Amino acid sequence: MSELTGSPAWTALSAHAAALAGTSMRDLFAADPGRAERMTFRAAGLVADLSKHKATGETLVRLLDLAHVTDVAGWRDRMFAGQKVNGTERRAVLHTALRAPPGTKLYIGGEDLMAEVHGVLDRMLDFAARVRSGAHVGATGRRITDVVNIGIGGSDLGPVMVSEALTPWRDPAIRPHFVSNVDGTHLSEVLRRVDPETTLFLIASKTFTTQETLANARSARDWFAARIPDPAAVASHFAALSTNREAVIAFGIDPANMFGFWDWVGGRYSVWSAIGLPVAITIGPENFRAFLAGANAMDRHFRTAPLHENLPVLMALLGVWAVNFLGARAHAVLPYDQSLSRFPAYLQQLDMESNGKGVDRDGNPVDYATGPVLFGEPGTNGQHAFYQLIHQGTHLIPCDFLAPVETQNPLGDHHRLLLSNVLAQAEALMRGRTRAEAEAELRAEGLKEAEVARLAPHKVFPGDRPSTTILFRRLDPATLGALIALYEHKVFVQGIVWRINSFDQWGVELGKQLARPILAELASGISGSTHDASTAALIRKAARQDTDGL
Ligand code: F6P
Repeated sequence: MSELTGSPAWTALSAHAAALAGTSMRDLFAADPGRAERMTFRAAGLVADLSKHKATGETLVRLLDLAHVTDVAGWRDRMFAGQKVNGTERRAVLHTALRAPPGTKLYIGGEDLMAEVHGVLDRMLDFAARVRSGAHVGATGRRITDVVNIGIGGSDLGPVMVSEALTPWRDPAIRPHFVSNVDGTHLSEVLRRVDPETTLFLIASKTFTTQETLANARSARDWFAARIPDPAAVASHFAALSTNREAVIAFGIDPANMFGFWDWVGGRYSVWSAIGLPVAITIGPENFRAFLAGANAMDRHFRTAPLHENLPVLMALLGVWAVNFLGARAHAVLPYDQSLSRFPAYLQQLDMESNGKGVDRDGNPVDYATGPVLFGEPGTNGQHAFYQLIHQGTHLIPCDFLAPVETQNPLGDHHRLLLSNVLAQAEALMRGRTRAEAEAELRAEGLKEAEVARLAPHKVFPGDRPSTTILFRRLDPATLGALIALYEHKVFVQGIVWRINSFDQWGVELGKQLARPILAELASGISGSTHDASTAALIRKAARQDTDGL
């Protein structure tokens, strides 16, 4: 038994879960008319109803005990203060500094961090403004009409998601494109649509060593050079967003066109840094500052609200409750806003790369489940795909429903239809439908008793399936900033409770390492002797040495 699972707070929660097993959420609502209001929390323009979790006041008290014994508040304060909370990489974790307003003071090792942060931000926003105004033009004097961001993981998912989410705020004269996959199709399809004279390439890579990004960047440069052979032209058409100045220079990008950031910004937390440049170019400096300010409002809430009213803390703890005490292994994020179509994909990296860990901070294997499998699709599409399993399947999958009460695109009664669906889904998951209710409905349809008996079991919904509903007025830059920061802090709190390091990602290494020799073997057609029989045979087939069946 580990320190965590052996703690009185944990064992009390296990006993409490067993005691609650016979109580349904329907019972909880029936017994307590004030439940919804009491379990609704507000932060930075977001209103979150947590009442559709199978949790009582006692559950929250016990979960808050767990937060206290795992020192959530202490770790939070150490993170904001710039201490090296990323232990394995011996790094501070300060993406929150990237959205702190001017005037904030933060000194690390005697250095005025905020002066550096605002220096890069001002430069980057000035560059964005010049591209937008036409002060920065291409080598042949034409205005930039297309921005191609080449990056992967955190150097792609954040900018893609934010760019899509803030479409109404974008300048339609500048089209953003995102190339991440090393599959040549991705880059080729984008290059087919752009004109080299009016295209700006942003090579986005924290490390500037990522294989996929460098391969795409080289191919983009070759494509460009084949069309505009003047070597000096590269300066007006290529910029780098990176922490690795030497590698940027070695690649051939003028450091004057490099926008830097720091090792204390994790890739999946980097959209607030220079990695946000494609967003800043398309939505403009003011909107980008509003995006940062929204996140900062959530940071202030997270830092200062008492834990029992602290939205990221409460969402995190209810997630822990579901995973460790109710047996959930997956979590769905379901935005009822088409603009947030890439939000679940973005959150997959944020959550699963952060909390998909099997050893604790001290390197001991954990004896409890950690981060769940996260997935999602915008409503209402998901309803017609995988919701069946969430309603009637054998897995417990807590859901986050996100919805704006005002739409960006008023069209007839579409928005009311959308809202009616999101509210109904959360209600259906909570209430379910009993056998008696199912039978009554079938009888009301005029079915014979034999038919009622045959169909009723299939029409039963177990209910008692937890969800959080988050409403906001509309999806503007500040609200989006707050929403992302909410999830960042939720993931952080869960990592602290689970005693894992949410800021490293060693699990991505082994595949990368093994791909290197395979790359050489595919080129030579000779598979090495170190492989298992399956991998060796697949290499021969992929290299077309063995065409059996291909
Ligand atoms: O493969 C994982 C990862 O290291 C992510 O954490 C990161 O966001 C991505 O690769 C891209 O890294 P970089 O920005 O250094 O190219």
